[in-house]
Order: sequence, then C-alpha cells, then structure tokens
Amino acid sequence: MNRNTNESNEFDPFKAVRADFPATERWTYTDVSGRDILSNKVRAAIDAHLDERMYNGGDKAKMFALIERVREKYARLISAEADEIAYTKNISDGLNMVATGLPWQPGDNVILCPELEHPNNVYPWLNLHRKGLETRMVDPHNGHIPIDDIVKRIDARTCIVTVSSVSFAPGFRTDIERLGRICRERGIFFLVDGAQSIGVIKTDVQNSYIDGLAVSTQKGLLGLYGMGLLYVRREWAERMRPAYLARFGVDLGDAHEAAMDGYAYKLMPGARRFDLGNYNFLATAALDASLDLLLEIGSERIERYLAMLSHALAQGFIELGVPVCGGAPGPHITNIVTVGVLGNGNHASVEDPRMNALAAHLVANNIKFSLRRGLLRFSFHIYNNKDDVERILGLTSAFLNNEIH
Ligand SMILES: Cc1ncc(COP(=O)(O)O)c(C=O)c1O
Repeated sequence: MNRNTNESNEFDPFKAVRADFPATERWTYTDVSGRDILSNKVRAAIDAHLDERMYNGGDKAKMFALIERVREKYARLISAEADEIAYTKNISDGLNMVATGLPWQPGDNVILCPELEHPNNVYPWLNLHRKGLETRMVDPHNGHIPIDDIVKRIDARTCIVTVSSVSFAPGFRTDIERLGRICRERGIFFLVDGAQSIGVIKTDVQNSYIDGLAVSTQKGLLGLYGMGLLYVRREWAERMRPAYLARFGVDLGDAHEAAMDGYAYKLMPGARRFDLGNYNFLATAALDASLDLLLEIGSERIERYLAMLSHALAQGFIELGVPVCGGAPGPHITNIVTVGVLGNGNHASVEDPRMNALAAHLVANNIKFSLRRGLLRFSFHIYNNKDDVERILGLTSAFLNNEIH
C-alpha cells in the first residue's frame, strides 16, 4: 500500500485503497449492500487460482491449506476461533444449518421481526412449521427491530431469537449486544444475519453474545458470490447435529479426504461438523485477499470511516430537504443511508414520482445504489470517499433546483 497523508498528516489507508478498485473510476459506487466491487488484488488472487488449476491441475494440499488459512483469518475478524467457523454457500445455507441442527422440540418457538428481515431469514423458519416449530413475529418500530417486544415474547419454549445486525432496508443497526445478553442469560440461541454488517462494522461475537452468525462473501467481505461462512459458538456447536453430513463433517484425524473408517463416526469438533464436501476454492482464494485488506485496515477504523461518510450524506440530504429515513444521523446509521418513505414502493420503484425521478437522474449520472422497500439506498465501503458524497449531493441539489430536467 502506498503511503500518503490526509489533512492532519496522518497516514490515510482509504486513499490508497480506492486506487485498487477500478470500478471507482467509472462509477460512484454506493451499493455494497447489494454487492461489492472487486479489487485488483482480489482479481489477481482469483486469476492465480484459475491459472494454477488450468496449467497444473491444482495442488490439493495447498487448496486445503487455503481453506484453513481463510477460516483462521475470518475467525480473527469476528473474534472467534477457527473451529467455530463452517464453510457455507451463502447466508441462507448458514441460517438453515442452524435451524435444522439445533436440538429443539415440537412446540418450541423462534422469535423474529419478519418485516425487517431479508426473506432468506424468514422462509427457513416458515419451513419448520411442518415440524412443529412455532414462529413468533413482532412488528418493527419506526424501522427498528423492537428489542423490548422480542423480549416480551420470550417464554420457556423459546429456543431461538434471530435478527439481522443491520437491516437491508432501512439499514438501521440493531442493538445486538443488548439482545444477545438477554438471550445468553436465558439459554436461548441468538442467531444473527450479518449480511449488512460484516466487513463494515466491528463485530466481536463474544462481546455481543452471538451464538450463530451467518454471512456471505459478496458484500462487506469484498469477495465473490457463491460462498458464505457460519460462526457457531463452540458450546452450542458441540450440541448440534447437522441435517446434512459428509466427509468433512466427520472427524477422521489426518486421514485422506476419501477415507472412511467403518460406519460408526464422530462429528468434527465445533462448527466444522457443518462442512460438507469440497469447498468453493475460487471464492475462498478471493476472500483470502480481501480479508488481508480488511484486517490490515482494521474493523474499528473502517466502521468510523464509513459512519463519517454516511453521516455526511444523511446530513447533506437533510439540508437539501430530502427525507432521510430515520431522520438526523445517529448511532443507528452504519454504512447505509436510505431516503424516501419506508414501504412507499418496492425493490424496483418508489411511489413518490419526484423520488422516482431523482433515482432515475442519479442512475443516468453513473451513481450505483439500490431501491429497497420503496427507499433509495446508498451504502459505502472502504473504496468510497467524500467526493462520492459530494457528487451524490451535488446531483441531487441540481435535480431539486430543476437545473437538469
Ligand atoms: C440481510 C440480508 N440477508 C440475506 C441476504 C442474502 O442471503 P443469501 O446470501 O442467502 O443470498 C441479503 C442480501 O442479499 C441481506 O441483505
């Protein structure tokens, strides 16, 4: 990374980082909540992996070493241990592994706020009705997951509470620590969908009392689609039985991957029992490179930087009279700013014609963002900077002044 300075003469890692993401030259890319953009370093890691497979067939020992290296790096990112991390396909896979692996009984219940969850953290629970799991649903409070209401619904049969750490829309942060502590006191499995927080805010699974955390690698982790990771706290993992089982979930010591030692078997320790067959080595190679970058800068620093950008954008919108969801920026905002009226539209259009026209104007000017639940959603990552904020605000201001249309 090149050394450079910001106004206070401090080394600013974000300036150097931007140059490694070529998409920033074409777009004002504020859509990591949808999917990330790839860095040159990640692309080089992908190419190196493909070249090795193409020209040499690949070295399996090195491929397994990659899996263990990345497991360890990701564990470090969230303050877990490597044995507490399983490889998955995506978030849905991880959430379903927990839903089907926990020792709950018919008549037990799970509590969630479906209106603020992604469908992928709702269907896994609906699917278990047929096996007798009750789904207790709470309503949101002004776009926030209502922790008090969740707590009120807890009873002796509650086995799981599940929330997203940051909702995909309107993008507010959940007080994970508070809810986690309550669940821990009551022996309830606290399951977190980390789609919108891992890689962008500091996450410490221990301090936050998280028992399970599912992520995919194509957003804040700056990697590829088709891969996810599941954290399961060791004490819980050891009490769980995976719904699917294959060779890598079985403990045969150092035996070959195609070995089998009779029909009796012992599950792998911790979350490793959820690993199945061969891995997504390509996406893991990509993640190996992106984790280096995230770990090098550090989660706390990233979180502070992204909050600074989000607050500047939210404040700027407010000054222009654009309705910011949730009002004045505060601790509920991480790297996501949403504007408009929640629920006033869908994932393709906004009901308010003026906001729809603003969205079209920004799209026409190479701003990348998403429409979600009737809101325009802007989301930042380490390659963004204040110029991006100014550009969005400048275009919005020009639009509002009727200078453009
Ligand atoms: C909160 C949340 N959960 C889950 C997902 C996606 O789940 P999966 O990785 O299974 O596709 C997304 C976005 O795509 C999301 O924003």
